[in-house]
Amino acid sequence: MSANTHETDTDGLQGALRQHAETASLLGVDFVPVAVDAPEEGASDKVAALDALRTRHAAESPVVASMPGWTNIVFGDGDPNARVMFVGEAPGADEDAQGIPFVGRAGKKLNEMIIAMGLSRESVYITNVLKVRPPNNRTPTVDEASQEGPYLIEQLQIIQPEVLVTLGKPAANFLLGNSEAMGRMRGRWHECMGIPVMPTYHPAYLLRAYTPENRKKVWSDLQQVIDRIGG
Ligand code: URA
Repeated sequence: MSANTHETDTDGLQGALRQHAETASLLGVDFVPVAVDAPEEGASDKVAALDALRTRHAAESPVVASMPGWTNIVFGDGDPNARVMFVGEAPGADEDAQGIPFVGRAGKKLNEMIIAMGLSRESVYITNVLKVRPPNNRTPTVDEASQEGPYLIEQLQIIQPEVLVTLGKPAANFLLGNSEAMGRMRGRWHECMGIPVMPTYHPAYLLRAYTPENRKKVWSDLQQVIDRIGG
């Protein structure tokens, strides 16, 4: 489906709400969520498959075994039947403490982004390339990403989202198999295992560089996702 399909369908609701989001809630202002929730069919199979993967990852991942200092494994959070899956880099201190991805400051910003898209946090699935916190929040090494990557790929295969949104460069580089700069990847569709991928800036980057220009770029990336799932 092209990004413009949305403009021409009869939808009124999605289109009107999207316009409302554009004008009224550019990443950071309250927005009334739209019900674009996933159907529940097959959810229990996915729950079981994810649970089995979680157990195997904890027992077998070389990164879990070798990374010093982490407290909790942060496997993933959300609806196993989600239509939209977000992939970040690695847990930070808050996530390590709670065992849940994106619960700190960057997580609050991500929640705002999700709500501005007309979705709810409960209706999407959120995970990271690395599932344990690197010391001092350092960027995951390429080796670590490739050792943890197969578990992320299995998560993807179980959840089979309609759209993947990567947050920041490491997630996009890993899933797209490249080493391109964020600025070159964001804003256009890519593909991973047949799933459309929209790379955008990491919410932590957005918080550090909270300029109208960056907010506009992220919002424009997210609008393409809304357009894709809205029809
Ligand atoms: N940053 C990430 O990339 N992931 C988290 O879960 C939290 C912060």
